[in-house]
Parts: sequence; structure tokens; C-alpha cells
Amino acid sequence: MKMHRFEEIWLIFGVAVLVISMAITGYQAFAQGMAPPSHKETIDPTQVENTAPFDNPGVYQTGENEYEVVMTLQAFSFEPSEITVPKGAEVTFIMTSKDVIHGVNAPHTNLNTMVVPGQVQRITQTFHDSDEFLLICNEYCGTGHQTMSATITVEE
Ligand code: CUA
Repeated sequence: MKMHRFEEIWLIFGVAVLVISMAITGYQAFAQGMAPPSHKETIDPTQVENTAPFDNPGVYQTGENEYEVVMTLQAFSFEPSEITVPKGAEVTFIMTSKDVIHGVNAPHTNLNTMVVPGQVQRITQTFHDSDEFLLICNEYCGTGHQTMSATITVEE
């Protein structure tokens, strides 16, 4: 079979890209252990108030400059709604919803996710500079959606 020179080059190029992509993906999956999230935590969405840790929402210090924020989302509020942490704090947000799907987003941070009833969502964010962040719900959740907000104050 006689192939055109350019056809040969493109065929080799195409196969090479495929093989390199598969090698990179294989290396990440098997050598580096990268995989989609696999250990989802669930909760009975009707029993949020009686289920630890969501029976006591709040800000907890868990180590030297490490904090956990146990937070419930409900139409149309965050609890707690005023969070204060020191500068440099590594804060893990542990969140669930009591009713419908809400979202959580603090612009210019890593915090941006859906919070789904029946599931526990965890996100860790380090706050390097003292600042005030507005935390907003970014999933339409009802007539009061636009009023659903909280603040994070990072103190010096
Ligand atoms: Cu909660 Cu929109």
C-alpha cells in the first residue's frame, strides 16, 4: 500500500499523541494514585440537627492555626454566619444541607462547591492574608436565594 508522505506523518503523530496521553494518565492513576473522590460521606438529611458534628455548628480550633468550621446550609442562611479565624489559618469546612441543594462560594478562594442534602462536603482553605470574605450561595435554592450569605473575617 502506497501512502502519501503527509498521511504517514499525521498517522505517526496521531498514534504518538494517543500513546503519550495514555502513558501520562496511566502514570497518574497507578504510580501517583490519582483517582476521583471515592469515600463519600452520607448523612440522613432529615436528622441533620441530631447528627454529629452538625448538632453543634460552629468554628473549632483543631490544631496550631488549624480550624474546622462545621456548617449547615438551609433556606436561606448559613450557620454559623459569621466566621472569624486568624491570618494563616488552615480551615476545613465541613458542610451539609438541611433542605435543598445550596452552593457555597467565596470569591478568590478555593471555596466553591455544591452542598447537597444527604451528603457531607469538606473543603480546606488556607487564609494567607487578613481580609473579609463574603460567602454566598451560588445554587438557586428558592425565593430568598439572593439573601443567603455569610462572612469570613481573617484577623491579623
Ligand atoms: Cu441557598 Cu441559593
